[in-house]
Amino acid sequence: MAFGEFGGRGGFSGRGGRGGAMRGGGRGRGSARGAPNARGRGGPPAGRGRGRGAPRGRGAPRGRGGAGGSNTVLEPHRHPGVFIAKGKEHMLVTKNLVPGESVYGEKRISIDGGVDGTKIEYRVWNPFRSKLAAGVLSGLDNIFIAPGKKVLYLGAASGTSVSHVADIVGPEGVVYAVEFSPRSGRDLITMAKKRTNVIPIVEDARLPNKYRMLISTVDVIFADVAQPDQARIVVHNAQSFLRENGHVVISIKASCIDSTAPPDVIFASELQKLKEGRFKPIEQVTLEPYERDHAMVTAQYRRHAS
Ligand SMILES: C[S@@+](CC[C@H](N)C(=O)[O-])C[C@H]1O[C@@H](n2cnc3c(N)ncnc32)[C@H](O)[C@@H]1O
Repeated sequence: MAFGEFGGRGGFSGRGGRGGAMRGGGRGRGSARGAPNARGRGGPPAGRGRGRGAPRGRGAPRGRGGAGGSNTVLEPHRHPGVFIAKGKEHMLVTKNLVPGESVYGEKRISIDGGVDGTKIEYRVWNPFRSKLAAGVLSGLDNIFIAPGKKVLYLGAASGTSVSHVADIVGPEGVVYAVEFSPRSGRDLITMAKKRTNVIPIVEDARLPNKYRMLISTVDVIFADVAQPDQARIVVHNAQSFLRENGHVVISIKASCIDSTAPPDVIFASELQKLKEGRFKPIEQVTLEPYERDHAMVTAQYRRHAS
């Protein structure tokens, strides 16, 4: 499976050449450059060359070979802690915190570490299974989740995406993963037994007081609860845990908020709620072709801004 980069994008501030506010905030279907029309679990064709999500950094650490296929070359993505494995196909990967183990059956790739034949293992990060991966491949400029960061993840489910966030923040970082379904929570707890930088919290994200004692101040809140009151949930958690000038990364599923209104109207109204909650919007991308009628939004928390 290989993943290219698609999706509409747009910023909010007047950053030259990016277009006006809300560009990329629409449905985006059929408008994304080179995006396939059909939606599926498989990835788009490889070999599209360098796009906005393509790795940067010539001379960065590289490796060859490995279980992912012969002559796989690893390059860092521009988002620290995220990598691209370039072989016959290009795949988004994260460095496996627990080498030798997959979390949800995902493919693993070993790359020569360059020293005494050591290998470093990476896990394929599928944008059809993880909205954050879809956001990365849709061209987000900054996901704010990086090595050493403290992340509060709302809507952790079984921990599929959380496990990749844990890989990205690494042993110096922490992921507080909140999920209210007991069934998913069980899988989340199992995953966290080996990924010790994940603190699983099986509670309702609407009630941050219930887990206040488990969490210190965080740098980033990632939210994917797919609830009509998601913006309120995010604001409430930010008031409790997010540091001043910290960031949120939010996946907005239009149909969860209102199945009758056009998605771009819903995205705009969710942004307005964030602004009222003292967030300054930074970026918005659509998650096509990975997710239909979803946007991913980033914003900065300005609790004390006048
Ligand atoms: C779309 S899924 C998240 C998928 C996950 N982010 C991933 O990429 O693997 C939404 C999750 O949020 C959880 N959820 C919904 N409302 C919640 C709430 N109020 N508190 C905690 N979890 C909630 C649901 O049980 C579900 O597992």
